[in-house]
Amino acid sequence: MSKDEQKRQSAETALRFVEDGMIVGVGTGSTVAYFIDGLARMRDRIKGTVSSSEQSTQRLRAHGIKVFDLNAVGSLQLYVDGADECDPNRCLIKGGGGALTREKIIAQVSHRFVCIIDAAKQVDVLGRFPLPIEVIPMARSSVARAIDALGGQPVWRDDVVTDNGNGILDVHGLRIADPVGLERALNQVPGIVTVGLFAQRPADIVIVDGLQRS
Ligand code: A5P
Repeated sequence: MSKDEQKRQSAETALRFVEDGMIVGVGTGSTVAYFIDGLARMRDRIKGTVSSSEQSTQRLRAHGIKVFDLNAVGSLQLYVDGADECDPNRCLIKGGGGALTREKIIAQVSHRFVCIIDAAKQVDVLGRFPLPIEVIPMARSSVARAIDALGGQPVWRDDVVTDNGNGILDVHGLRIADPVGLERALNQVPGIVTVGLFAQRPADIVIVDGLQRS
């Protein structure tokens, strides 16, 4: 099975969690693109969506799917999103597409977070994929120094401005044995908007190559 087919099958399985009348939280990325295309088939059965990026909003609207402002909706029953890495405890690295802040906000207000991945993203310990961190531009150097002190190698992502007007630092060389602790520690650094570690609020269900793993 090709990687695209693995992603498509995971997205198709996630569609089973969508119920009539729902407002569905929608993530960002190439796997979620398949989910959005599948959601288009159920467009008339759902109330609409809340989107985690301009990219997903455009795709949803192109399919005629309604996109609500999160502030007008409150909490969500279901959030479907991809990830860059997933450990056995369903802790994730996200943000390869730069949409981590809105993704984390939606994950936080959702009762069920269904994560759709292909098998290559499963790891025993997070950190092989560089950890994305969204940073306020004026704190670029101070945040990089703080990350250095924590043992990571920060690399500024060239020419990327997030949907929120910030930059992204990708942190290489981490072996994240304590994802919750590292997420908490990085959240304390002034200038960091969001850490791409989803450990305090992990996924509830992980679908790998179309099969529900947990
Ligand atoms: C977007 O910022 C990310 O969190 C994505 O969920 C993640 O990068 C997975 O993307 P793909 O489905 O394209 O691999």
